[in-house]
Amino acid sequence: MQRNFIWLGFAALLTLLPLPGLSDGGDAERGLQVLRIAGGCTCHTNYPGEGDSAPLLAGGRALSSPFGVYYSSNITPDPETGIGNWSDADFIRAMRDGVSPEGRNYFPVFPYTAFTFMSDRDLLDLRAYLTTLEPIRRANLPPDAPFPFSWRPAITPWKWLNFETGPWQENSNRDATWNRGHYLVQAVAHCGECHTPRTLTGGLDLQNSMAGSASGPEGELAPNITSDDQTGIGRWSIPDITWFLEIGLKPDGDDTQGLMAEVIQHGYASAEPDDLRAIATYLKTVPPIHNALVVESK
Ligand code: HEC
Repeated sequence: MQRNFIWLGFAALLTLLPLPGLSDGGDAERGLQVLRIAGGCTCHTNYPGEGDSAPLLAGGRALSSPFGVYYSSNITPDPETGIGNWSDADFIRAMRDGVSPEGRNYFPVFPYTAFTFMSDRDLLDLRAYLTTLEPIRRANLPPDAPFPFSWRPAITPWKWLNFETGPWQENSNRDATWNRGHYLVQAVAHCGECHTPRTLTGGLDLQNSMAGSASGPEGELAPNITSDDQTGIGRWSIPDITWFLEIGLKPDGDDTQGLMAEVIQHGYASAEPDDLRAIATYLKTVPPIHNALVVESK
């Protein structure tokens, strides 16, 4: 009798062990929330090329940058062309260190400079959600960029210069809402990847965090979202910012366009309202930087 119990206990423990290639460490339902507050990972869906019928998260989207054109990867669970064969550890390493399961560097167009600060729990839950997607067979495309910007070994020195790894640090002088907002802005929602200007080597210019980028992804201008009254969003209230992230309308009634409209529509709009409020709370405390941006001619 007692022995049966011991075996039962042992069998129960075995079911808790992770299996390679499968995600049993995360909660897929919660992972959908992580995906939403990450802006829906919309860079991985080729909406501009294929419209609303584009296969969800199957990659192939051209992301132009000052260094060339890079194509997003297939992150559906297809075992050959997607990430179906990856272990949870592979996924965490890709997101946190910008390194593929084969040990190759990812181009920094993949914002691991932000995702490195994500918690284990968020990463595992996101991974669990991604495994529930329809697997789509679609091979990844090489970049359309001149040497050395198409050469992965060149990313190692780039990382020395521009990449600081996590984990995210809590600020004990601030309350839980501010800390949640800071974590989301810095890590999951990766606002700075578009809104922070870049240095000559393409790293984030952290002295000017959120001060706007005239040549954001796909050549779009991402405005100054520091609390500067004239050139930033200093005049927006916390409810103004929350409302904007929910429906894409600015306080003056104008609607947002391009990539911001996309990350709202496919992500932030259906995120938890508390998380959007936390983002707005944190954003109001970003130091004002006076930086008027002018559209660069394309
Ligand atoms: C994929 C790139 C990208 C990401 C990620 C992104 N933004 Fe934006 N954002 C833009 C672009 C581009 C615009 C300009 C859109 C337009 O011209 O209507 C914009 C506009 C805005 C505006 C309007 C500012 C104004 O003065 O009109 C606010 C506020 C804003 N973003 C906040 C955020 C916050 C907060 C986050 C993170 C939660 C975020 N954005 C993430 C690209 C991005």
